Amino acid sequence: MFEILPMNHFINLKDISKNDLNKILLDAKKRKKLRKKLSTLEVDKGTPLKGKLLIQMFEKSSLRTRLSFYLAIKQLGGGTLTLRSNELHLGEGGESLEDTAKILSTYGDGFMLRTDSDQKVENFKKNLKIPIINGLSPSSHPTQILSDIFTIEEIKKTQISNLKICWIGDSNNVLNSLIAASVKFDFELNIGCPKNYRPKKKILDWVKKNKNKIYFFNEAKKAARNADVIFSDKVISLNDKVNKKKKLSHFKNFKITQKLMKYAKKDCIFLHCLPRGSEVEEKVFFSRHSKVWQQALNRVHVQKSILMYCFGKLR
Ligand code: CP
Ligand code: NVA
Repeated sequence: MFEILPMNHFINLKDISKNDLNKILLDAKKRKKLRKKLSTLEVDKGTPLKGKLLIQMFEKSSLRTRLSFYLAIKQLGGGTLTLRSNELHLGEGGESLEDTAKILSTYGDGFMLRTDSDQKVENFKKNLKIPIINGLSPSSHPTQILSDIFTIEEIKKTQISNLKICWIGDSNNVLNSLIAASVKFDFELNIGCPKNYRPKKKILDWVKKNKNKIYFFNEAKKAARNADVIFSDKVISLNDKVNKKKKLSHFKNFKITQKLMKYAKKDCIFLHCLPRGSEVEEKVFFSRHSKVWQQALNRVHVQKSILMYCFGKLR
C-alpha cells in the first residue's frame, strides 16, 4: 500500500512557519554531517525519497539551482528530469497550464520551477497535485536564502539572530527573500542602496506590520558598519528590463571593495549567490572573507531538507 503523506509547497519564506524553517535547517545540519564519508551520488541512509521523481523546469538560465536539486534528490534516493519550457507545448502556447500541471502531477512527485512570472508559480500551485518549489521568481529566491542562513550559522557558530547582516545592492528577488528571512529569524538587516532602488511598498508594508529591524542607508559604508555578514548580488538581474548602463552607473558607489570591508567587523564574511558581475572587487571575492564556494555547495544540503519538507517527511 502507498503511504499518504502531507505535502508542502515551498514558494515564499514569509508563508512558511518559523518552526518548519527551523526543522529544515536542523535536518540539513544532521544530513550534512552524516555525508562526510559518502561520495557525490551515494544515497543517504534509509533512502528517504526512494522512487520519487522531481521534475525541474527552467524558463531562465541556471547553473547552481539545477545541479544542486539534481544532487539533492539523487542523494535522497529519488531522481530528476529537467525540462526547458520552450520544449513543451506550454512554452509554445499549444497547451494550457492547467493540462500541463495535470500531466506533471500524474508523472512526477514534485515540481521545481524557475520562472519570470510570480503569477505562473501561483497558477501551477493551484493546479498541481504535487508540491511546487520556487527555484527563483521575479519576487523571491527562497531556496537560496534559506541555504544562506544555514551557511551563516555554520560559519559563525551562532544563531543568525545574534548577528548583524548587511545587504549592499539592488532590491531584487534575493533581497526580498532575505527581508522575509529577517522577520522569520529575527535578525538585524542593514540595506545599502540608492534611494530610488529601495524595495517595493508592498514589501516594506509587510515588514512594518511584522515590526522588524530593517534599516536603509544611502551610503554603503554606513550599511556595512559593524556587519558580521555582507551580501551582494548582480546589479542587473536575469531578464531585468532596464537601461543597463544607466542602472550600473547608479550603483557605482555600492561596490564591495576592500575599503568598504574595513567598516565591517574584522571577521565579517562576504556572501554572493552567484553568478557575479562587477559589484564586487576581485580582491574581496578571493579574500579570506569570501565564503561563496561553501555557500554554493550548501545549497545541496539545504535543498535536500526542503525536499523532505515538501514530501511531508520532516517530523
Ligand atoms: N544562485 C543561483 O541561483 O545560481 P543559478 O542561477 O546558477 O542557479
Ligand atoms: N538576482 C539574481 C539572482 C540570480 C541567482 C537574478 O534574478 O538574476
